[in-house]
Amino acid sequence: MCSSQLFARVFFFFFFFSQLVLCVTEDGWTLGPGLVTHYKQYPPNTSKVYSYFECREKKTDSTKTRKVKYNKTVFYGLQYILQKYLTGKVITPQKIQEAKEVYREHFQDDVFNEKGWNYILEKYNGHLPIEIKAVPEGSVIPRGNVLFTVESTDPECYWLTNWVETILVQIWYPITVATNSREQKKILAKYLMETSGNLEGLEYKLHDFGYRGVSSQETAGIGASAHLVNFKGTDTVAGIGVIKKYYGTKDPVPGFSVPAAEHSTITAWGKDHEKDAFEHIIKQFPSVPVSIVSDSYDIYNACEKIWGEDLRGLIEARSADAPLVVRPDSGNPLDTVLKVLEILGKKFTPQENSKGYKVLPPYIRVIQGDGVDINTLQEIVEGMKEHRWSIENISFGSGGALLQKLTRDLLNCSFKCSYVVTNGLGVNVFKDPVADPNKRSKKGRLSLHRTQSGDFVTLEEGKGDLEEYGQDLLHTVFQNGKIVKMYTFDEVRDNARLKEFEVEELLH
Ligand SMILES: *[C@@H]1O[C@H](CO)[C@@H](O)[C@H](O)[C@H]1NC(C)=O
Ligand SMILES: *[C@@H]1O[C@H](CO)[C@@H](O)[C@H](O)[C@H]1NC(C)=O
Ligand SMILES: *[C@@H]1O[C@H](CO)[C@@H](O)[C@H](O)[C@H]1NC(C)=O
Ligand SMILES: *[C@@H]1O[C@H](CO)[C@@H](O)[C@H](O)[C@H]1NC(C)=O
Repeated sequence: MCSSQLFARVFFFFFFFSQLVLCVTEDGWTLGPGLVTHYKQYPPNTSKVYSYFECREKKTDSTKTRKVKYNKTVFYGLQYILQKYLTGKVITPQKIQEAKEVYREHFQDDVFNEKGWNYILEKYNGHLPIEIKAVPEGSVIPRGNVLFTVESTDPECYWLTNWVETILVQIWYPITVATNSREQKKILAKYLMETSGNLEGLEYKLHDFGYRGVSSQETAGIGASAHLVNFKGTDTVAGIGVIKKYYGTKDPVPGFSVPAAEHSTITAWGKDHEKDAFEHIIKQFPSVPVSIVSDSYDIYNACEKIWGEDLRGLIEARSADAPLVVRPDSGNPLDTVLKVLEILGKKFTPQENSKGYKVLPPYIRVIQGDGVDINTLQEIVEGMKEHRWSIENISFGSGGALLQKLTRDLLNCSFKCSYVVTNGLGVNVFKDPVADPNKRSKKGRLSLHRTQSGDFVTLEEGKGDLEEYGQDLLHTVFQNGKIVKMYTFDEVRDNARLKEFEVEELLH
């Protein structure tokens, strides 16, 4: 092979194939973590690699263009990844054999680290010799701070730290869902407080409608559980399974829902029988809230004539515990919500609450579940406030925007090496690309601390070892194949709850 061919081949490897997968999990499929060829690339005599995860913060400020700043992130989801993919005997002879064969074909060369994996198999009975330290799950931490660190615990397995990078960085997803959902909770809290004077029902104001809009069952489970960190309403029941299996709660279930109509259960009655459909369905569910999609043909006619006149008596007879929930599902979200409220308000006389905002009678409310994302949510509640409607009697559903319309770039989630030991000598390492100062990474061993004023600060280069800085907020959660610290979902929720000072900040 001539040198230019060789160059092309090497280029091909490292730029296209260096981030690939490597071994096979209990489930029998190829395990996500893996930077297959990297073990050959570290300096000779490297005996430890130490890396960390953060949601990078903008150093040069041009975030003005984005309405939502996402200054703080909710740390959530590591416990799931660790239990599902990295705990216990994850390396077996069969998996090594299978991976060896796949990578032989995949790279058209024997680049697979068979010797390294056999070492782990024999010395650790297939358990991964790494240590992971992390902030408690549910913690709300400003961008730019270390959230977890990973280090190899056996000098022979220095390469393992960044082998687990790919699967660990997938935590960007539950972090981003939980963070975006919490920002929406803040918007709802602000407007609920301003238009009613209290936060009653806040946890039920943003319902997860995202099941069908996500890429897979696993995404549904993880994403829905991340939303439930902040709220209690969900139709994505896969999240309940994830929480019960990987976290656990004191309540039998961490999320709730109500019976709801969909278009098929209305349109199956025929266009001339929408009223019959509505009547039938509300009678099926006399003692719980029931949500009825009312835009199959004409949402305004449905509100005015069917709900407001034909079925009015039936609705007025319902209790506050079993209201009719009218669901528009098309049109511009703000205009539709305002018009629906206006029509319903003419037929079912609203009361004025202590803050001077209109509230529909307790037997009727509205849910807007179409076109809801963090930006339209803000517009709708602002528009309602302008028109003197209280946020008390509306709730929202969000689907694709809640669980799927998010990427790793939103919070700049990244995993970088910051410390290595070579020839017995610890070296602080970092990157600092000339073209983007935002991508500079941290140096050395890291720890997370609280300052006297309550701010969070990341100390670099092992400085956090000094006693004067107090306790490191990173706790060992994983050691040599075992989970050594677990959080219940109740603890996660408690760590992530909206603090009083945050609500006060929102009101100023
Ligand atoms: C690696 O360590 C060995 C044994 O200590 C030493 O002989 C060798 O020079 C080292 N290699 C490098 C590149 O430092
Ligand atoms: C975060 O990612 C966005 C999108 O890729 C990018 O424009 C921005 O510069 C990144 N910020 C940081 C701090 O890396
Ligand atoms: C978020 O961060 C930006 C930029 O650092 C800052 O200007 C803004 O005040 C912060 N917002 C909040 C709510 O803390
Ligand atoms: C609407 O808000 C009022 C005031 O908080 C409350 O009493 C009532 O139960 C709410 N109605 C529904 C259907 O939630």
